[in-house]
Amino acid sequence: MALLEACVTHFGERGATHVATAPGRINLIGEHIDYLGLPVFPMALQRHVAIHFRAREDNLVEIANSNADFGRRSFVLKTEIEPFAAGDWGNYAKAAALGVMKMSDRLRGIDALVDSDLVVAAGLSSSSALVVAVALALLAANELVFEPLELAELMAGAERYVGLEGGGMDQAVCLAARAGHACRIDFNPLRVTPVRVPAEWRFVVASSLVTASKSNAVRKGYNSRVRQCREALCTMTEALGLDDRVDSYRELFATVSEEELVRCGEETLSNDLFERFRHVVTECGRVLAAQGAMAADDIERFGQLMIASHESLRDDFKVSCPELNELVDISLAADAVGARLTGAGFGGCIVALCHSSSVGDLIGALERKFYEGRRFAGALEHHLFVASPVGGASVGRSL
Ligand code: GLA
Repeated sequence: MALLEACVTHFGERGATHVATAPGRINLIGEHIDYLGLPVFPMALQRHVAIHFRAREDNLVEIANSNADFGRRSFVLKTEIEPFAAGDWGNYAKAAALGVMKMSDRLRGIDALVDSDLVVAAGLSSSSALVVAVALALLAANELVFEPLELAELMAGAERYVGLEGGGMDQAVCLAARAGHACRIDFNPLRVTPVRVPAEWRFVVASSLVTASKSNAVRKGYNSRVRQCREALCTMTEALGLDDRVDSYRELFATVSEEELVRCGEETLSNDLFERFRHVVTECGRVLAAQGAMAADDIERFGQLMIASHESLRDDFKVSCPELNELVDISLAADAVGARLTGAGFGGCIVALCHSSSVGDLIGALERKFYEGRRFAGALEHHLFVASPVGGASVGRSL
């Protein structure tokens, strides 16, 4: 349904008064370590979830979607809200509402229409963008003001309502990104350090066309890794005699060197746990190195770190899949300096880095060697495009 038609159907003649816009993201490096309190390095991109809305007089949320795959949902704002069925898109709106209810338990509802050019379940954080956009709409409808980072923390907690033990990366970059910059994000307390993306660097996003929806299998695979990493931490601090003074990966890394941790981990942990642990230890080092490489405009170094990150996610963390590996291989054979899966994995997208002079060749190679002969919904530009770093989520008046 065209947006205008959908607006008229949903709002009637009164129309929407405001629009909340929240970007998706690619994670450049630092995968599966945010939920352990370790730094990550994502960038917000130019595809968004937009919510056209107007405040209601009562406490109802009526939310429709211009994408016909997602039916209209409605619920009452209360401090306890029963979820829809597992996997239902309306649960992201309920998650946001419950988060905002923590600020004020008497909220006016909204009539809202979601419109998005962000592919869903592709690892580009469409779900956190939806949560953030609903939260901003509810806050604006109730004239509540919030600091972006405080809201990011609140929403990271709120989104766990859908059953994923996620970290806080997606909400933080969505709310606090700066145009032209990638974001180094640190946790406890949450901090965002913008790093300018050099003018000639291009990040190409390519979808594996394998859906990575955060329901069922992906959620189980993700949550089991969160548990394994926590278990590995406990076992290692005990083995190193540090359990009385170290209870986070950050403290562990400040106390014991990377080499020593890998050596001791191999002796101490079961095979699976050691592989997860080695990914965490090495990935954290790569984030710090990658931030330095971007600041120094060292594209080759950044690319090598991306390649090492992908290998670690594929071999140690085991969250890749054949299609993601194929995209990485095609990219590297076609002049990308680096490529890796981005987001939670299990499908979704890769991000490949190249110099601006190679971007046409890289996109051409991906098109010919991966997408030709495969079926996908909509235009190829939804699945294969160059990401530009944009600023964070915002609310404005409808035009
Ligand atoms: C998902 C989660 C994030 C993060 C990534 C993996 O996107 O929402 O918090 O854990 O996976 O890096």
